[in-house]
Amino acid sequence: MLERIQETANYLRNKMQTRPETAIILGTGLGSLAEEITDKNEILYKDIPNFPVSTVEGHSGKLIFGRLGGKDIMAMQGRFHYYEGYSMKEVTFPIRVMRELGIKNLFVSNASGGTNPNFKIGDLMIITDHINYFPEHPLRGRNIPYGPRFPDMSEAYDKEFIRMADTIAQERGIHVQHGVYLGTQGPTFETPSEYKLFHILGADAVGMSTVPEVIVARHCNIRVFGVSVVTDLGVEGKIIEVSHEEVQKAADAAQPKMTEIMKEMIKRIS
Ligand code: HPA
Repeated sequence: MLERIQETANYLRNKMQTRPETAIILGTGLGSLAEEITDKNEILYKDIPNFPVSTVEGHSGKLIFGRLGGKDIMAMQGRFHYYEGYSMKEVTFPIRVMRELGIKNLFVSNASGGTNPNFKIGDLMIITDHINYFPEHPLRGRNIPYGPRFPDMSEAYDKEFIRMADTIAQERGIHVQHGVYLGTQGPTFETPSEYKLFHILGADAVGMSTVPEVIVARHCNIRVFGVSVVTDLGVEGKIIEVSHEEVQKAADAAQPKMTEIMKEMIKRIS
């Protein structure tokens, strides 16, 4: 495992002209941040040794090295989902490669169904915490010596990043929600009873990603900031049929706000 991570990191290091400390994972329908990246050097997942290849429509599958907010960054356009059939080791493989490349901060984004009755479609939810509802734990198995066997998760989402995002949102008149993201395996969207269950469990939004990557990032001591775009509502009385297309459309409408916040945060990170 470690050898494969290092092999991939070495391949990328040879192609990189920069030394980014911040990485961004662009979720479903949230790829337009990539258009703001300048001095781009793009590498397709299919050309990267040991990288899984993403299969879902709307996930184009490439690593982007470039500049954003005056800093070197790297971005993943498209991620690997458990429901695609990848193991958790594969889903989180890029995070460990990031760790080898010297990444210190990880910004994650996703689309989700809101279970909080105060949420509206198109809301940006700053993730304050998560609930791991996946059937397999990404750290199951021999401990990779990037971190402890029993990692702390008391502050999975960096409080300083959350404060920074709130300040920026306030300065720019961007309305944001805060909440707990529950990650489940998918690929079905929830039944009304499942949305209700997840809300009772403490979730404000539910989606099919992010949690595995965040767990592995924290194991590697990478600081995490997460944003979820509420693309549909799992709230009694407001539940309507959901499709991947609608999720993408709602995410698309919300993404300029997310881009603005993330770009400004990168500018302010010292
Ligand atoms: N449930 C799970 N995943 C999702 C949803 C949802 O309602 N919306 C977008 N991703």
